[in-house]
Amino acid sequence: MPHFHAPPISPMAIAFDAEKLTLSPEGPTLTRRMSDLEGLFLDHDAWAASAQGENPVVYTVVSSPVPEADRELPQSITTIMPGDTSGELWMTKGHQHPNHQGEIYLALKGRGGLLMFDGERTEWLDMLPGTIGYIPPGWAHRSVNTGDEPYSFLAVYPGGAGHDYGWVLEHGMGSRAYRATAGTDSTDSTVDLRPYAG
Ligand SMILES: [Fe+2]
Repeated sequence: MPHFHAPPISPMAIAFDAEKLTLSPEGPTLTRRMSDLEGLFLDHDAWAASAQGENPVVYTVVSSPVPEADRELPQSITTIMPGDTSGELWMTKGHQHPNHQGEIYLALKGRGGLLMFDGERTEWLDMLPGTIGYIPPGWAHRSVNTGDEPYSFLAVYPGGAGHDYGWVLEHGMGSRAYRATAGTDSTDSTVDLRPYAG
């Protein structure tokens, strides 16, 4: 067995159910509630009221057993609940890979968006089931639920990439995604992107 292969994990089949949104066998799961998203929504008071009140689940992440270790290629399914905080659509925390490496997201269910920021430029991709969003190395990334049902996507990423959430708190994401209201210019867009502003 090659000695560079650590931790050892054997070839395996992973059952991917795009309807039930499961990976089997299962790895770690993660639940992010409103209280876990401090400093991310522009309306801090509205965030605090929600976090200290109902404290709803904003998103969940289920994964396969492939570990987050260098040279491994883990997978996970994230489901973001529909909702907004003072109009700002519910979203993942967003992160940068400290060890700059790429990642792909495959939209599975619902309607969402992929917001990316490299420190200067912002990119937005509409994510509908079947869309692969490609995140190049060096772009911080955040997913947003732009619809009125849960939005789910599969992520496949280098296990050694890491997750730097502080980068987003320090640099922002370039834009914020708000629920589009009637009268917003584009006819079929459900998102209103505004400058990050704080
Ligand atoms: Fe990532």
